[in-house]
Amino acid sequence: MILKDLNPNATENSTSDQLILCKTNDGSLSLKSLKFKECFHSLNGATKEAKEKFIAPSGLHRYSKNEIIFVLDICVGMGYNTACLMEALLKQSTCLNYWGLEIDKNPLQLALGNESFRSNWTVKVLDNLKQIARENQWKDSAGKGKILWGDARKTINDIPEKIKFDLIYLDPFSPQQCPQLWSEEFLQKISSKLSKGGRLITYCRAAAIRASLKRTGLIVNSIIPKEITSKVWSLGTIALKDSNGIQDKSEQLIWDALNQKENDHLATTAAIPYRDPTGNSSAIEIMRRRRIEQLKSNFKSTSSWKKRWANTKES
Ligand SMILES: C[S@@+](CC[C@H](N)C(=O)[O-])C[C@H]1O[C@@H](n2cnc3c(N)ncnc32)[C@H](O)[C@@H]1O
Repeated sequence: MILKDLNPNATENSTSDQLILCKTNDGSLSLKSLKFKECFHSLNGATKEAKEKFIAPSGLHRYSKNEIIFVLDICVGMGYNTACLMEALLKQSTCLNYWGLEIDKNPLQLALGNESFRSNWTVKVLDNLKQIARENQWKDSAGKGKILWGDARKTINDIPEKIKFDLIYLDPFSPQQCPQLWSEEFLQKISSKLSKGGRLITYCRAAAIRASLKRTGLIVNSIIPKEITSKVWSLGTIALKDSNGIQDKSEQLIWDALNQKENDHLATTAAIPYRDPTGNSSAIEIMRRRRIEQLKSNFKSTSSWKKRWANTKES
């Protein structure tokens, strides 16, 4: 359900986006971006998506009371992933050292200005979000955090080299709409920021992203949907720095190694990476570069892969 156009003055080329408020199927609020031509969340539910695709695969039970967990949230947006994480950590009394990257201040401000959004969170978490929006940081006995505003390709370099993350959440718009944040170079950079046992988690199941993550040296796995269909065969990707991040029994229903269908996907033209060697390319340039590489490649076509797996539920 579309509710309201929130920034009618934004233009196609401005840094600020034209955002339309909408309601998702679990009742939680989301935004549609006219600049990126996409919604911020799956229409199944913004809260549902944060919990299923980011929090559940995080394996937060691995961290004990008073331990400090380092988390990098790339594309903070309205703050759903951040807030769900904070709520979960508060419950188990694990401390948080948080870094967020986001180009646009509006999504978080719009979210905080909405009563329905505010009512999702405890006073403590809401207070943290408000401080992040107002002062770019927060600090208390449960942890501390900072948000760096600007293009994540640049602001990633402002995080001190010595900081390594136990969890990296990667939540940009799709590779087709925002290839800048899915380039092999950017994925390489963020992968190098994972700690021993660290996990990079994203809703994206695209072959290009998985192939790039593999080449960065990560162990790539799939987030498993509750019900597997030929369309919904994965909820995303969880890439491990090393075998220290390996799952215990309680996670067996949440993620698993790539299966045959997913591995075959990596041998098709869909697996050709997005490249941004200078870190300055526009989306159009990155897409054009990839198209040329696809045309030259002798990988199998993605349509033959689709046909091969069309009627199987194998995920
Ligand atoms: C899919 S939304 C993120 C949703 C968010 N994780 C949440 O929980 O609400 C994508 C976000 O990426 C941001 N974005 C787009 N390009 C960016 C860039 N180059 N650097 C940093 N953030 C960017 C957009 O402003 C938008 O807030």
